[in-house]
Amino acid sequence: MVTRRKAMKISLALFIKISIIVFSAALLALQIACALAQTEPTPPPDVAALKAEIDALKRLVPSQSHAMTDVDYQFSNLWFAAQNRNWPLAEFYLNETRSHLNWAVRIRPVRKLSNGGELELQPVLDGVEKSSLAQLKSAIAGKDPAAFEAAYRQTITECYACHKLAGKPYLRPHIPEAPAARMIDMKPD
Ligand code: HEC
Repeated sequence: MVTRRKAMKISLALFIKISIIVFSAALLALQIACALAQTEPTPPPDVAALKAEIDALKRLVPSQSHAMTDVDYQFSNLWFAAQNRNWPLAEFYLNETRSHLNWAVRIRPVRKLSNGGELELQPVLDGVEKSSLAQLKSAIAGKDPAAFEAAYRQTITECYACHKLAGKPYLRPHIPEAPAARMIDMKPD
């Protein structure tokens, strides 16, 4: 005969045992869930949505001719900065000219030509940088108006050479009559 006391003791022990089993099972389930969450591959990005976003961004990029009108602005200011012997301003506009020429080329590195061929612009620009833009840099550093004028005229010839290569011989730059900037004082302090 099992006494009442003994029966209570047994059911308590059973309860503890069951609790331990349930708890261990829950812990195991949690561990498995964690492991699964770690190994589960991230869902693939929505390719169509990404493509649409890239296309939308592409439409926001300015055109090559827009970047070239910046070059026109900076390069004409450069002439007047040097005419006024304002060498720090000349250096600024030379650097801006160089970086905007590079930007223009990055926007559209290859031009399709009317004869069906293609023109890679970067090698052409590299040539301009190494020759006339380098000469302009040293003329400005040496504060030499005569060397500056020679290098500036040489650069104009090279600007035009690229326009001709790109099939745009009607884009013929010349020495500017007035600075493009209306608010920047070309005279030194
Ligand atoms: C590596 C080639 C290259 C060089 C170097 C280059 N350009 Fe250009 N430029 C172009 C091309 C190509 C276009 C036509 C862009 C278009 O039609 O989208 C252009 C267009 C222009 C335009 C017309 C922009 C407009 O829409 O009104 C100006 C102004 C211009 N360039 C100025 C210059 C000046 C100034 C220099 C020299 C300091 C220069 N470019 C050097 C390739 C060049």
